[in-house]
Amino acid sequence: VYLNGEILPYHEAKVHVDDRGFTLADGIYDVIRVYNGRPFEIHRHMRHVARSAAALRLELDPDVAEIERLARQLVQDYGETDAQIYLQVTRGEAPRAHAFPKGVKPTTMITVKPAINPPPEVIARGEGAITLPDDRWGRCDVKTIGLTANVLARQRANEAGCYEAVFVRDGYITDCASCNVMAVFGSTLMTAPKTNYILGGITREVTLELARADGIDVVEESFRVEAFRAADEILLTGTNTGVMPIVRLDGAQVGSGAPGPITRRLVELFRAKTAAN
Ligand SMILES: Cc1ncc(COP(=O)(O)O)c(C=O)c1O
Repeated sequence: VYLNGEILPYHEAKVHVDDRGFTLADGIYDVIRVYNGRPFEIHRHMRHVARSAAALRLELDPDVAEIERLARQLVQDYGETDAQIYLQVTRGEAPRAHAFPKGVKPTTMITVKPAINPPPEVIARGEGAITLPDDRWGRCDVKTIGLTANVLARQRANEAGCYEAVFVRDGYITDCASCNVMAVFGSTLMTAPKTNYILGGITREVTLELARADGIDVVEESFRVEAFRAADEILLTGTNTGVMPIVRLDGAQVGSGAPGPITRRLVELFRAKTAAN
């Protein structure tokens, strides 16, 4: 664990009870996957970190370049080729009051841990999802550690025997508790555009690029939940998920009930891309 200037064994890294991450969820995070011992798309993730920090008016110290260097060093020290980097920056330690404290350095923490991607046989079979009202705040594009709505949604999904909860805002599909969601209508791959109502995930971006390069018709436009229910294919994307086919939605079969051809192609393309990382 890297914590505030030191590299410590996992169980020795401690944060104060007055840390604003603990008392106010006043911080940001990101998760980066390591494939073949190398962080995957770390530059895009770092841009995302910088953007999230700016949205929270959180001045990164160490800065993003140094955070990236530290993350790479931790990955090297960890020595496993398959892993995940978790990084979190909070506004630091100060007696609890909502407005920003003065002269307080952010708490910066980076860990490297085993990867937790779903096993290949689960991806081959596909998973279930439920739909839920999107009751997150209006800045879903920011990766803040305040994830109450996401936590409750994922728990509901798991209790329903499902992998993920797909959010519906004003009748339109946005994203999920911790993934982006795409649907295939005929031969067109659709996903909601990047607005403040979705977290524009890095895996979403990579998947859309792979799809376009493969000649798949890609449309970034919102679609309604009714259309979504009638989609030919549904898939999720996320750092710790990769590309995951969804074959059941709210208990009903999606398309043929098995991962469809475009989803299977995207699973394959994403696997090849990460294998070549
Ligand atoms: C709400 C939400 N949507 C989508 C994603 C997927 O983003 P990424 O592909 O960068 O992991 C995440 C990841 O944390 C998320 O929290």
